[in-house]
Amino acid sequence: MRKIKTTKTEYLKILIRIIKWYFNYWVFRKINPLFCEVYITNSCNFKCKMCHNWKLKNKQTLSFNLFKKLVDDIKGGCCHLSLGGGEPLLLPDIIERVIYAKKFVPHVHLVTNGYLLNEKMSQRLAFSGINEISISIDGLRETNDEVRGVKGAFDHALEAINNLKKYAPNINIVVNTIIAPWNIDELIQLVGVIKNIGVFQQFQPISNIFGNQADNEFTNNIIEKEKIKQFIKEILNEKHVINSKYFLSNIVDYFVSGKSNCLPGKCRLPSYYIEILPDGNLVPCGIVYKKGKSFSLINQRVKEVLKKKEYIQEVKKLRDCSLCRQGMYVCYLEPRIAFPFLNFIKYNLFPQK
Ligand SMILES: C[S@@+](CC[C@H](N)C(=O)[O-])C[C@H]1O[C@@H](n2cnc3c(N)ncnc32)[C@H](O)[C@@H]1O
Ligand code: SF4
Ligand code: SF4
Repeated sequence: MRKIKTTKTEYLKILIRIIKWYFNYWVFRKINPLFCEVYITNSCNFKCKMCHNWKLKNKQTLSFNLFKKLVDDIKGGCCHLSLGGGEPLLLPDIIERVIYAKKFVPHVHLVTNGYLLNEKMSQRLAFSGINEISISIDGLRETNDEVRGVKGAFDHALEAINNLKKYAPNINIVVNTIIAPWNIDELIQLVGVIKNIGVFQQFQPISNIFGNQADNEFTNNIIEKEKIKQFIKEILNEKHVINSKYFLSNIVDYFVSGKSNCLPGKCRLPSYYIEILPDGNLVPCGIVYKKGKSFSLINQRVKEVLKKKEYIQEVKKLRDCSLCRQGMYVCYLEPRIAFPFLNFIKYNLFPQK
């Protein structure tokens, strides 16, 4: 298994920033973002049946200037910045953006469908200093290509992994895999393929909580209890699977009842997390952003937004949010499980419910 290549200095920086977060939060009651998710574009070269991005009429990409301004604003406290979309590798200046972010944020991550990750792109990514890349694969060749709407998607994703292993050995690789009724029967085989390649894998139960226009058949989250139970049992002790055991063991209930029982009540995620949309709006949690307020970064700095009364009210309101019970989106639930520290102890060291 490939080792995570984040350096000791980067780990130290992450630790210092986490301690700083606690200090600011508990002593000064100040919110400062530790984790930042940037949906850098909503354009995409794929047509995945479970995703709405490619259907959006209004194509938008966060400008380089606004991206720089964002990084400058969060550079003192943020320890993890993730670039997603849409397809981030469509941006001609994606490497320059990563290089800029890496100057100030110790852990930078990107999630991609892998189609554009050829030899040259791998070399450029290696040069950028990025820490981790997630590549999405949602089934064996035929299923993956059908669901992702592009012939050759599976082979391109495997090629992307090989290119990274060869030309960018310092980048940590994680395969993102959706669990859904349409791929459950072949997931164990896929787990074997990914394990043999020697990279990490992270599971994401299919979600339909984004309020998007994705095809219902593809966001239907019911799977027979015995099937999902057996699958989870088989992956729980796989060393290359990086989801927490607590998260994995809750997936059975989610598929049987359509509701997740992970982390009931009192969400603190918006106190240490921000999300930036392609139009330059900041939201405290992307899942709820259509119902709540968003805050433009075009004419204001992140710090100004976080101090605003309306923003603080929004964050407080979200403490009682229960939307995560209707889905198990890793970007939201896994950080909630791992942070703050008490959650880490409660759910990771004593994962039994
Ligand atoms: C929205 S994509 C953006 C990055 C890139 N285009 C990709 O596909 O990897 C980020 C992740 O969300 C996952 N995803 C998309 N639609 C989903 C859904 N309805 N439920 C759960 N995960 C979903 C994708 O498989 C991917 O791993
Ligand atoms: S999941 Fe990723 S690749 Fe597929 S349509 Fe959505 S943004 Fe594009
Ligand atoms: S409960 Fe989930 S959806 Fe609601 S604010 Fe927290 S992370 Fe977001």
